[in-house]
Amino acid sequence: MSIKVNFGYAENCIKENELTAIQGEITNADSALRGGTGLGNDYLGWIDLPVNYDKEEFARIKECAEKIKKDSDVLVVLGIGGSYLGARAVIEFIKSNNYNLVVGDTPQIYFGGNTLSSSAVVELKKLIDGKDFSVNVISKSGTTTETAVAFRFLKQIAEEKYGKQGAAERIYVTTDRKKGALKALADSEGYETFVVPDDVGGRYSVLTAVGLLPIAVAGIDIDALMKGAADARIKYMNPDITANECYKYAAVRNLLYRSGKKMELMVSYEPSMTMWNEWLKQLFGESEGKEGKGLYPASVVFSTDLHSLGQYIQQGERLMFETVTWVKNPIADIEVPFDEINGDGLNFLAGKTMHYVNERAFRGTLLAHTDGSVPNIVIEIDRQDEYNLGELIYFFELACGISGYVLGINPFDQPGVESYKKNMFALLEKPGYEELKNILTERLK
Ligand code: PA5
Repeated sequence: MSIKVNFGYAENCIKENELTAIQGEITNADSALRGGTGLGNDYLGWIDLPVNYDKEEFARIKECAEKIKKDSDVLVVLGIGGSYLGARAVIEFIKSNNYNLVVGDTPQIYFGGNTLSSSAVVELKKLIDGKDFSVNVISKSGTTTETAVAFRFLKQIAEEKYGKQGAAERIYVTTDRKKGALKALADSEGYETFVVPDDVGGRYSVLTAVGLLPIAVAGIDIDALMKGAADARIKYMNPDITANECYKYAAVRNLLYRSGKKMELMVSYEPSMTMWNEWLKQLFGESEGKEGKGLYPASVVFSTDLHSLGQYIQQGERLMFETVTWVKNPIADIEVPFDEINGDGLNFLAGKTMHYVNERAFRGTLLAHTDGSVPNIVIEIDRQDEYNLGELIYFFELACGISGYVLGINPFDQPGVESYKKNMFALLEKPGYEELKNILTERLK
């Protein structure tokens, strides 16, 4: 099997009896999750999604991806939070964080609708100027401001360029099956639509059309991605933490949290995993950060960030532990060249592969940080391919659900996200928010 987890660098911070004691909580979390009796039980569709998905829609995703590959230089993906992070994370993880620069025979993919920055919107318009493009607008609610505003721009540009009918043939909508403004618009304009299942929340939706259409357009094998997740679904079924590394990970991170480690630093040694880290941060941050509780998820890419945050991690507040995802076999490798002059004194590396050097940096850092009282959990994956990533996605989604139940919160809602929206709408003078607008204006004086 492809994922292996090493808890050896965290175990000196956790007593054996604590691990034994938390087993009961893990078993209860497992029963609640699989029995559908826990908090947020309307949103458990992701558990069986790798095998229980709409096969007709899956085939249609592949067909549309082929059409987009043929008729578009660029795919613009509009969505925010769970409606874009998964697709972007997968594309960069499998292809490259420089996907748009090194792209071969698949369209460039630009992500928009995830910001209110005017500069970003203007830049997006420039990026597609003169290019044939398609748009995939993704919003489960269909009402998210960032995405809806960006779609106004893209719809207008597409209609000016291709005419109303031509634009309709290039706009793909991923939204709720029945309700919402976007669904109504898609029906009236005749756009191709895909469904965000009712029982799958945004941050658990990467293996639905939300993630799969853009991922397929990038030329990624979505069958292999689903297969990795489907095998993980079987692999991580046993509630016994001595037999289930996913559940043990959920147990260990909760024990570390209780011991005072309030931050989980997601670490990778591959720049192509930068957006993967962002996906993890959303998954855990939005799932667990509630009721004054939850590990704060942060991320770094080493060795790059050893030259920025490394100092703090080694000697600052002892508030964190690290979860490192190490890739055993890199996408590509190359030998360090010999240099006659050897001015940098690095000829001792000549002939060694860069991955060997990276690996020594990883091992050295692991020991240094552990010596500095930063426990490390190491998740090793065989390679950065679709199958491994499918397993990794499922591993973390399941760990997050179990972990959230052990923490005693609902890992499937996000009530706190509404606060900024309410205030923003009031300050933007949205009808119905007059009273709040007066209160906020007074406070901002
Ligand atoms: O995980 C979540 O539920 C959120 O991050 C949503 O995905 C995000 O807020 C976007 O919502 P929507 O798809 O309704 O536009």
